[in-house]
Amino acid sequence: MDELRELYQQIILEHYRNPRNVGELPDATHKAEGNNPLCGDCLEVALRIINDHIVDIRFRGKGCAISQASASVMTTLLKGKTVKEADELFERFHRLVTGIESPSAQPGTLAAFAGIREFPSRVKCATLAWHTLRAALQNVPEVTTTEE
Ligand code: FES
Repeated sequence: MDELRELYQQIILEHYRNPRNVGELPDATHKAEGNNPLCGDCLEVALRIINDHIVDIRFRGKGCAISQASASVMTTLLKGKTVKEADELFERFHRLVTGIESPSAQPGTLAAFAGIREFPSRVKCATLAWHTLRAALQNVPEVTTTEE
């Protein structure tokens, strides 16, 4: 179990140090800004959606290692997905970090965030990008993560 935990920590650190899909997306069709009221950190998620498929996604902003790694992993998982699939992944990630679902039920890199459930104050860090994604998909320009 310790080996698995170490692997998960490595995945999070690696995405924090080398975040994927960072920056502006000039031709975005959907965009939102998310704020974590506990720390004041915020990030933007921008998507280009064509024929109901996410053809590109980027994020930018400041935040802790968990929030940045979570945003990076999220973008890698969502490219090429449909809006419905993105919404389903949001639900799965949310159930994972809040402890409703076991890590074994989650695909690959998502499971790396399962340990967050042991640190309730960090759940908002892990879900910041995902709540911002959902806001963008619903054409809500700004969201404050008042819930987990
Ligand atoms: Fe601000 Fe984690 S401490 S997002």
